[in-house]
Amino acid sequence: MDYTTPQFFHLMQYAAEAEGDVIDMVSGNPDFEPPSTLRRALQAYADFDQGRFQYPPSDGLFELRALIAKRRGVDTEQVIITNGAGEANYLAMAIALDRGVGSEAILLDPIYPYYPGKVEMLGGTKRVIATNRDGSIDIGAIEQAMSDETALVVLNTPNNPTGAVYDIDDVRHVIDLAETHDAIVLVDEIYDRFDYSGRFASAVPIDSEHRIVTSGYSKSMAITGLRVGFAIMPERYIDAARTRHMLVNVASSRPAQYAVLEALRETPDTYYAEARAQLGDRIDAFTAALDRVGAAYTEPEGSFYVLTRFDGFPGTMANTKRLIDEAGVAGMPGATFGDAFSDWLRFAVVTPRAVEAAERLGEYFG
Ligand SMILES: Cc1ncc(COP(=O)(O)O)c(C=O)c1O
Repeated sequence: MDYTTPQFFHLMQYAAEAEGDVIDMVSGNPDFEPPSTLRRALQAYADFDQGRFQYPPSDGLFELRALIAKRRGVDTEQVIITNGAGEANYLAMAIALDRGVGSEAILLDPIYPYYPGKVEMLGGTKRVIATNRDGSIDIGAIEQAMSDETALVVLNTPNNPTGAVYDIDDVRHVIDLAETHDAIVLVDEIYDRFDYSGRFASAVPIDSEHRIVTSGYSKSMAITGLRVGFAIMPERYIDAARTRHMLVNVASSRPAQYAVLEALRETPDTYYAEARAQLGDRIDAFTAALDRVGAAYTEPEGSFYVLTRFDGFPGTMANTKRLIDEAGVAGMPGATFGDAFSDWLRFAVVTPRAVEAAERLGEYFG
């Protein structure tokens, strides 16, 4: 698999250029409204004085770092603001692979495709371990795979694409193993607000010099275009992270950070609860429609993706395009996430037309 070519954009473009009406379930762009306070903050920003249009501190607005730190129970010095969780993941991986302690990165299959791309770009070697069939962590397999060559283990919970919410004891177990082998565990929690199971627990309270947690506001505030994320890491790594962030980016967008800060201060929990409830209902309706045609699917506990398998129709790129042309539904090929679910297709339910899409799939495969 070539992880450096962005398949998401390729398929979104293919779907947009297709002849008939196509329901786009490719992208992970939320379709709900950003918090109203965020919109107001951006509007107000236009009238701010000239100075507020200049460089912010490279590691992020202090008030934003301090608020994140306070809410997460860590020191402000442990927080760096990044251009989305994507950059936070890159910084964490760079730190792990630059320490001179091993060069192997353990990734769990199915894999969010940007992870292997980044590991390769940073000169690391991938070691891919399948998750259990329900998407949970196979501790035994990770234990066996880990050695003193292991520099990094990447976990993502709630998970894209399986929807699994990891047991926090499993996460702790992997961090314990990383302590034994002097490796770093990166826990990507970008979907932390989308937990339908009530079981999600963040890895931030796990006090270890071997865990880095990343997250951001792209999904929870429906602002994938604003690019505000963060990493929380042990203080010993923060200088390395700051240097790399500064040399690559200089800084992150100041108005975007300001708007997120205002939204964090003012947005009631009901905003997140409503988005979560809406997506949970959609998942239920989408999977109920899949039940009617006897398709297999993963039961998401979190995030907003459903992996589906239709008999005799493996989730290849060619079949995904056929589904766009012939059924009018665009998903992602399971094969782009590794081998474990290569027969499956991934559908993002961030569209009000999710049920209609399931009905179209029903008709096509029925
Ligand atoms: C698992 C995972 N991590 C990170 C990201 C990127 O997030 P951001 O927009 O904050 O860079 C995504 C986006 O889809 C994702 O699914």
